[in-house]
Amino acid sequence: MALLEVHDLHKHFDGVAALSGVSLHVERGEIVGLIGPNGAGKTTLFNCITGALRPDRGSVRLDGEAITGLPPHRVAQRGLARTFQLVRPFAELTALENVLCGQPHARERLWAVALRKTPKALEERAWGLLEFLGLAALAHRPAGALSYGQQKLLALATALMGEPKIVLLDEPFAGVNPTMIEHILERLKALNAQGVTFLVIEHNMEALMRLAQRVYALAAGRVIAEGTPQRIQRTPEVLEVYYGQ
Ligand SMILES: Nc1ncnc2c1ncn2[C@@H]1O[C@H](COP(=O)(O)OP(=O)(O)OP(=O)(O)O)[C@@H](O)[C@H]1O
Ligand SMILES: [Mg+2]
Repeated sequence: MALLEVHDLHKHFDGVAALSGVSLHVERGEIVGLIGPNGAGKTTLFNCITGALRPDRGSVRLDGEAITGLPPHRVAQRGLARTFQLVRPFAELTALENVLCGQPHARERLWAVALRKTPKALEERAWGLLEFLGLAALAHRPAGALSYGQQKLLALATALMGEPKIVLLDEPFAGVNPTMIEHILERLKALNAQGVTFLVIEHNMEALMRLAQRVYALAAGRVIAEGTPQRIQRTPEVLEVYYGQ
């Protein structure tokens, strides 16, 4: 049984068919890539999986259970976390406080953080994540003072706080310098070796090819190809939408 199973998802925005029957699956322990030109429907797919948007049709199953149409916090509680294409930490809170606000009980967590009443075990977990990602020295800085790449790492730490079964990453390398790309890439591989499953949207093909074991290509709301990174780059349909060849 797949860890994440998306079946025949459809989503329209007045007149625009953002998703037209998307099906895909992610097995436990995999890193699966999702590529496609701007406007292909990648983020919309993430929004429909995570409950940020309600699909018009189709179903999403996580670890065998239907999660279609559940609100985001319920989906998070079932073990699915995400990061956003544009990172948006709580700029005034410290890096550590941001991680403590991590899913899946964000609302309660936010109060606990505001009241400085975080249980010790949670604080230890947050420290552990900051250390693992190389952010420990910045733990008490306001998140807004961190570089964009560091904010992306912080978003990853926050997503990991709830010990998710699967993490959906929306362009983890976009707007990040080459050294930081290497660092993020290596940490994602280390997390995967520890058992974390990932579905990763990315335009940086070179980085994604080194990360993902399997890749889906999306164009105009449909899956047009699926396969290993090597194979997908040679698929005529993919070359066509990227280079018009
Ligand atoms: N909330 C919305 N309201 C109306 N149209 C939307 C909305 N969200 C997305 N769209 C449209 O749906 C289509 C798919 O957008 P989406 O953001 O999913 O693409 P994407 O593959 O993530 O692109 P990019 O690589 O640029 O991030 C686009 O035509 C977009 O304009
Ligand atoms: Mg997008």
